[in-house]
Amino acid sequence: MNLIKKILAAQTAVVALWAMNAQATTNDAIAARLKPVGEVCIQGEECAAAVAGAAAAAGGGARSAQDVVAKFCNACHSIGLLDAPKVGDSAAWKARADKEGGLDGLLATAIKGLNAMPPKGTCADCSDDELREAIQHMSGL
Ligand code: HEC
Repeated sequence: MNLIKKILAAQTAVVALWAMNAQATTNDAIAARLKPVGEVCIQGEECAAAVAGAAAAAGGGARSAQDVVAKFCNACHSIGLLDAPKVGDSAAWKARADKEGGLDGLLATAIKGLNAMPPKGTCADCSDDELREAIQHMSGL
């Protein structure tokens, strides 16, 4: 194959991939449009959506540590913004834990805030348990 043909072949491949991708998006969009507007709940049986909603409203540990960290803590802790200890930098977290008296001490400072670290790390409606799990998830402690 000469160079021109190779370039053309590469471009054709890119266009084909792009077209497949566009089709996938369209299929998802169609699936979303075809979804029923409401879901049927049978009397006497628990309705999945209602149960999930109630659990979230009660704050009953509905959010995983991953969710809390991804939504609230990563903004600063993923890149160490403003000197925040980084996710996975267990040495940095361990040094802080030793200073604050372990995980409970870290939790206490996380709740009330510390310098540039906002109270509850901006997750105002996080329970203590959710914050504790988020700290464990980030620190590996
Ligand atoms: C706006 C940025 C920001 C966000 C969002 C944030 N943090 Fe922090 N965090 C910091 C900074 C900065 C520090 C270091 C503070 C210092 O030592 O001066 C810190 C420190 C901490 C510490 C160590 C406290 C200590 O005693 O040394 C914990 C624990 C912590 N963050 C937990 C969290 C959790 C959990 C979340 C998410 C729910 C979170 N942070 C979200 C900026 C943030």
